[in-house]
Amino acid sequence: MGGQLGFIVNQITFKPKPLPADIRFDNQTAIVTGSNVGIGLESARQLTSHGISHLILGVRDTTKGDAAQADIQKSNPKCNIKVWQLDLESFDSIVSFADRAKSLDRLDIAIMNAAIKQLKFTTSPYGHESNLQVNHLGTALLSLLLLPTLRKSSKKNGIPSRLTFSSSEVHFWTPFNEKSAPKILERMDRKESFTNGMERYYTSKLLNVFWFRELASRIDAAEVIINGTNPGFCATQLHRHDHSQGFKILAKLLAWSSEQGAYFLLDAAVTKKDESHGAYIQEQKITPPSKFVLSSQGKAVQKKLWAETIEVLKKECPNVMFDNVTNS
Ligand SMILES: NC(=O)c1ccc[n+]([C@@H]2O[C@H](COP(=O)([O-])OP(=O)(O)OC[C@H]3O[C@@H](n4cnc5c(N)ncnc54)[C@H](OP(=O)(O)O)[C@@H]3O)[C@@H](O)[C@H]2O)c1
Repeated sequence: MGGQLGFIVNQITFKPKPLPADIRFDNQTAIVTGSNVGIGLESARQLTSHGISHLILGVRDTTKGDAAQADIQKSNPKCNIKVWQLDLESFDSIVSFADRAKSLDRLDIAIMNAAIKQLKFTTSPYGHESNLQVNHLGTALLSLLLLPTLRKSSKKNGIPSRLTFSSSEVHFWTPFNEKSAPKILERMDRKESFTNGMERYYTSKLLNVFWFRELASRIDAAEVIINGTNPGFCATQLHRHDHSQGFKILAKLLAWSSEQGAYFLLDAAVTKKDESHGAYIQEQKITPPSKFVLSSQGKAVQKKLWAETIEVLKKECPNVMFDNVTNS
């Protein structure tokens, strides 16, 4: 599992399965981030076709979000679909989004799907390297700030709410050169550490795995089931900066559709139950994450990354109270 040959074989042989037709989400509310295109859009569409009553599209560009909303609404006119602005490059935007979510009557499912694969060194307005900012820091902050709403909803409705992260098999492939740095996140922000854009994206997806595992260890699965999944290699705009001929051929031969990618996300967010709390899911099965994640060094890095992430978020968001968000 996790090797590049295994990846190719899986892409050719595995047939992603959609949600069982009889699963219904009537009266439920879901948030899907990055849902104007790609796997997020198709996940949102599939939730509506299974009867979700209220759907929030968390998008950075609301014009694109409005187009997605109109498109989904055509086939599902009864669903209450709202477009909310969310830019994971802006901590203010994330805090506003999460504050808005507090007004929801219930929040059953939150899918942390939005991400970038930025192959050049660029930084967010806060000076954080862009893959790190969007895929880890922004996603981590949003997940923390949605937790009280997810937990409140679970208590009110007597069923665990769901928080699912879109990670990737590529988390197996990163050398994670920063792993022994005294301050891992600080090192990742430095231009000289950005030697290979693809590896940086891989590392950001490894950070997702560390984050959801640590978060799950601090939250009771009876309240919120937290997991992460690999939606597989899909032909989406994620690869918009990848212009190499080799990549184009690989995509043509191997890539799944966004619709198939959404089967994986919804499988993790809905059909996998509390046995999936803290688990990595691949090919719609609970699967061990990389050997590094499970190693003693990996376990120490997971704790260190949690502490470093909270430290960065406290510094960037001085008005947010983080201490009561998790159980410990
Ligand atoms: N496609 C694959 O092969 C593959 C494989 C494994 C894992 N994944 C994961 O699957 C998830 C979905 O990716 P995808 O393939 O569907 O890619 P995509 O088509 O590029 O969609 C990514 C979504 O994230 C949004 N986004 C990007 N930056 C954002 C920001 N700063 N704030 C808020 N939203 C932002 C994008 O918005 P804009 O449209 O405005 O850019 C878009 O809606 C990602 O987590 C990705 O890492 C994908």
